[in-house]
Amino acid sequence: MNKNDSKPTTTDAGCPVSSDEHSLTVGPDGPILLHDHYLIEQMANFNRERIPERQPHAKGSGAFGYFEVTHDVSAFTKAAVFQPGTKTDTLIRFSTVAGERGSPDTWRDPRGFSVKFYTSEGNYDMVGNNTPVFFLRDPMKFQHFIRSQKRRADNGLRDHDMQWDFWSLSPESAHQVAWLMGDRGIPKTWRNMNGYSSHTYMWVNAAGERFWVKYHFKTDQGIDFLTQEEADRLAGADGDYHRRDLFDAIKRGDNPSWSLKMQIMPFEEAKTYRFNPFDLTKVWPHADYPLHDVGKLTLNRNPTDFHTEIEQAAFEPNNLVPGIGISPDKMLLGRMFAYADAHRHRLGVNYKQIPVNAPQCPVFSYSKDGQGRTQNVSDPVYAPNSKGGPAADGQRYPESATWSADGEFTRAAYTLREDDDDFGQAGTLVRDVMDDPQRERLVSNVVGHLKDGVSEPVLQRAFEYWSNIDKNIGDRIRKGISGG
Ligand code: NDP
Ligand code: HEM
Repeated sequence: MNKNDSKPTTTDAGCPVSSDEHSLTVGPDGPILLHDHYLIEQMANFNRERIPERQPHAKGSGAFGYFEVTHDVSAFTKAAVFQPGTKTDTLIRFSTVAGERGSPDTWRDPRGFSVKFYTSEGNYDMVGNNTPVFFLRDPMKFQHFIRSQKRRADNGLRDHDMQWDFWSLSPESAHQVAWLMGDRGIPKTWRNMNGYSSHTYMWVNAAGERFWVKYHFKTDQGIDFLTQEEADRLAGADGDYHRRDLFDAIKRGDNPSWSLKMQIMPFEEAKTYRFNPFDLTKVWPHADYPLHDVGKLTLNRNPTDFHTEIEQAAFEPNNLVPGIGISPDKMLLGRMFAYADAHRHRLGVNYKQIPVNAPQCPVFSYSKDGQGRTQNVSDPVYAPNSKGGPAADGQRYPESATWSADGEFTRAAYTLREDDDDFGQAGTLVRDVMDDPQRERLVSNVVGHLKDGVSEPVLQRAFEYWSNIDKNIGDRIRKGISGG
């Protein structure tokens, strides 16, 4: 044993080294020798410690836990993870959207709410946000939107003028912007916010019947928020406020949980519903589609290595299991490509073999080789084969989460229905859901935001945008800026 009675340091190859402190030199004052492999290993590995940050949602953290089914929803889905009595290991990651990996947790922004269920039929990822809607309804605009929220090209600064320019030219953003500028735009902690799929997904039951569904993870800790002033102070005092809160809560055994409830729409009703139920800028009113209880998600284990377990976690909405499918929501269809592509760039082609991303069920895929592969591949390496290799079972796992589509190729907005508009639900939110103090804070938050560098004519468009949401709120915001 060495002088500290601790384990002897080794190289990455396990070979013991003779010093943690001194490089190998020609005499105590002489030059460093190139064959000091241990020094070089330390320097080279250090230079490669950082991997690219996620493009959006770079700042976040997460924890492990489990999901328990508490109510029988087998009439709606055959997914193993949602069958009565099932308990499934989970990983969750919370995040902000626009900030970089070291940015403050308390910036006003939607929060990511990503859940990985390690189910018996493969990994199921529900990659949602803490908001039930989104700013856009076509993936063509997503990249532009994110750029408008991040940093300018010239001075590298974030810029409210750029944000409002994009928003005011994209009226479909109104519902999400109204939501974001209200109290829920800065949750007190990640434990005090809900998670939503936002998108409509499909559930398929054992008889092959299809349903359109939306996920609502309701916090059991209660909703709570930070005022703009509290958030600004914390951004300076403790940029990792939310990360720290989650870690400390789990460490002291105060395990947070969320109750999963679903909105469920019979398949045929989507065709005649009064607005497009796949439009990501809209909620389904609870009066039309009430919440069905499903189960409870509990977090009870912190990561022990942030990099391997959280930074290298790869969530992708395309990780779907039998009984769960997607919907004609164009944003969701766009996301089917984006995530795995991002992971191949960020983590390498074999990212699913990183333990945090590896399924807890057997994998029988024909993927082979590539950088970073750790699991051995065995013959046969092709299908079909007569050598006993895996064979797809279309009887047991039919392509059942489907819908029919027809029409000429086109680049067009969704066909409008009776109640399809950009401002209606945003107006309901500010008029019917928020109370007077909430509306007061909303106006103050928007005025503060617009006063911070927003130029004409963007400002005039922003006033019009708010007046379209609600005339009274629009007037108050205009007055708050002009002082009149
Ligand atoms: P309901 O009255 O049935 O639901 C209102 C919802 O608003 C509740 O889910 C509530 O969440 C949530 N809420 C309460 N305060 C705020 C706030 N300050 N900011 C954002 N959300 C808040 O009405 P509807 O279902 O008809 O929806 C009316 C409006 O409520 C919608 O236009 C939408 O903006 C908003 N909303 C609707 C949701 C839905 O899925 N239908 C979900 C969330 C918001 P909680 O119970 O957790 O407090
Ligand atoms: C992260 C793309 C819409 C939630 C990401 C990442 C990309 C991306 C490339 C980084 C992934 C990584 O490097 O790990 C897109 C595109 C969208 C879209 C192209 C629309 C066309 C949405 C929507 C939601 C959402 C609507 C929520 C409902 C998230 C979350 C993360 C994320 C939570 C962080 C995942 C994690 O915790 O690792 N998105 N996104 N995104 N996105 Fe999206």
